[in-house]
Amino acid sequence: MTQHLATTDRPADAPADAARRAGWWRDAVIYQVYPRSFADANGDGMGDLPGIRSRLPYLRDLGVDAVWLSPFYASPQADAGYDVADYRAVDPMFGTLADADHLVADAHGLGLRIIVDLVPNHSSDRHEWFQRALREGPASPLRERYHFRPGQGAGGDEPPNDWESVFGGPAWTRTENPDGTPGDWYLHLFAPEQPDFNWEHPAVREEFHAVLRFWLDRGVDGFRIDVAHGLVKAAGLPDLGTHDPLKLLGTGATPCFDQDGVHEIYREWRKILDEYPGERIGVAEAWTPTARRTANYVRPDELHQAFNFQYLASSWQAGALRQVIDESLEAMRPVGAPTTWVLSNHDVTRHATRFANEPGLGTQIRTAGDRELGLRRARAASLLMLALPGSAYVYQGEELGLPDVTDLPDEVRQDPSYFRAEGQDGFRDGCRVPIPWSGTEAPYGFGPAAGGPSWLPQPAEWAHLSVEAQTGDPASTLELYRAALAYRRAHPALGGADNLTWLDAGEGVLSFERSTDDGRTLRCTANITDRPVTVPTPGELALASEPLTQDGDHTVLPADTTAWWTTG
Ligand code: GLC
Repeated sequence: MTQHLATTDRPADAPADAARRAGWWRDAVIYQVYPRSFADANGDGMGDLPGIRSRLPYLRDLGVDAVWLSPFYASPQADAGYDVADYRAVDPMFGTLADADHLVADAHGLGLRIIVDLVPNHSSDRHEWFQRALREGPASPLRERYHFRPGQGAGGDEPPNDWESVFGGPAWTRTENPDGTPGDWYLHLFAPEQPDFNWEHPAVREEFHAVLRFWLDRGVDGFRIDVAHGLVKAAGLPDLGTHDPLKLLGTGATPCFDQDGVHEIYREWRKILDEYPGERIGVAEAWTPTARRTANYVRPDELHQAFNFQYLASSWQAGALRQVIDESLEAMRPVGAPTTWVLSNHDVTRHATRFANEPGLGTQIRTAGDRELGLRRARAASLLMLALPGSAYVYQGEELGLPDVTDLPDEVRQDPSYFRAEGQDGFRDGCRVPIPWSGTEAPYGFGPAAGGPSWLPQPAEWAHLSVEAQTGDPASTLELYRAALAYRRAHPALGGADNLTWLDAGEGVLSFERSTDDGRTLRCTANITDRPVTVPTPGELALASEPLTQDGDHTVLPADTTAWWTTG
C-alpha cells in the first residue's frame, strides 16, 4: 500500500458508501472507459491506468455508478487489446498489476464500481497455448483447445468450411507445420491474430473459471463479456451456405453465434460470481437477432445484464424508438432482468454522428453529416435514454457531445476491420480518438504536455468541447449529463423496471411518465420531429436538451428536443 491509496482505507471489495446497495446494477449508470483514449499519465500518447486513476474524481462528480474498462491485458494489440496474450497480466503500455489494484481501490473509495472486460471467445495468437499448439505440430494436444482442422480439396488448400470473419475475409487461416510444409487451418471469427477457443474442452472452461477468480479476488465488481454469444459453435462446424459477409458481430442466427450451448457456460460463471460478496455482475456483449434472444443471457441463473444493441441500432425516429423500447421492456419482464440502454461504444460511430446523417446507414459511418443537427439530436436522445427504466451505458466522450472523427488519414488508423475490409467498412477508429480535457492545444490535457502526442490525432475544433470548456456552462452537454445523472440519483425509484406509462402526445412525439419516490412523477417528452410542438406544461421543468419557450400554460418544445418535468 502506498500513499496513492490516500482516498481509501478499506479493502478493495468493501462497499464505500450507502449507494452500494442490493441490486445496485439494476438501475446503474455505467461509464465505459476506453483505456487507450481516456487519459495518458506518462505522456507517451497512449492512455494508461494511472491516467484513468487520476480522473476518477471526474467520474464520481459526473454521477455515474460504475466504470467498465475495455481490455488492458497483455496483448500485441492486433485488435486494440481484444487479443489477449495473458489474462492475468496488465500490458506495460497501460501500466502494471499494482496500478490495476490501486485503480480498483481508489474507485471503491470514491463509491464507484469497476467492471473489467473479459475476452473468452478467442485469445491472441501470441497466447502461450496457441504458440505451443503451433510449435508442437499437428499432434499437439493443445490444438484441441482451439479449432484446428484439415483443409478441404486436393492438398487441403481450401478452408474447412465457408465461414467468414466478422472483420472480412475467411474465418480460417492455414498454419505451417514445424517442418515447413502447409498444415492445418485454425478458426478465427475475428482477425487471424484472434484464434477462437474450443469451449467443448474442459481446460478452456477451467482456465476461465480461474481467470474470473483472479480478478474477483482483486476486488473487481463484474465483467463485461466480449462476444458472449460466440463461444459455442454448432456441432461439426457446418457450412453457412452463403458468402454474404456476416453483419457486424453477427446479428443473424448462424452456426457460429448465439448457439443455445453458451448458456450452460454462464450458469457456471454465475455460481462463481455469487460466491463473492457485493453482487459482482456479468454483462453480456451478445449481438442476437431479437431482444427475446438477448433475454436468454440474463435469466435468473445466468448473467445480470446484456447490452441492448437493438436500441443502439435504432434510428432517431419516434416509431422505431417506441417499438424498440416496448420490445426491450417486454423481453426482459419474464426473466426479471433490468433493461439496459446504450447509444454509443468503442465499436460504433458515435450517436452524435449517426444522427447527423440520414437514417439507415447502420453503425459504421464515414461521413460527418450535419454536425449541429447531430449534436442536437444526440442531446435529446441521451436525455430520453436516461429517463428510461433500468441501467444505462455512457461511452466516454458522449457526455461532451463528441462526434466521430470521420476524416482520419489511413496511415493513423489501427482498426483491423478497416484494413480487412479494404477501407470500405470498420470505421471504429473514429470513435476512439482520445478525449479532450482542457486547454486550447492538442492533446487537450489527454497527455501531460501541450503539443504532446496522442495515438490518434484530435481535431482542432475539440478545444471548445473539452471538459474544462464545458464545465460551468449550463448550456453544455457535459452539464446536461451531470444534471440528468444527479436527478436519477435523487430519485432512486426511477430504476424500477416496470415503472413507465406512455402518454398520447401526437405524431413524432414520445411522452411517458415515471413515478419517483415522493409520490410525484417524472414526465419525459421527446419531440423527434423537425418542427416545434406545443404541449401543455405538465409541472416544474427539471431539464431540457434545448431552451424551451413558455406560451401561457403551454410549452413550446423545439425540433429534436427532450424535456423532463416533475409533476404532481
Ligand atoms: C467485441 C469488441 C470489439 C472486438 C471484438 C473482437 O465486439 O467490442 O472491439 O473487436 O469483440 O474481440
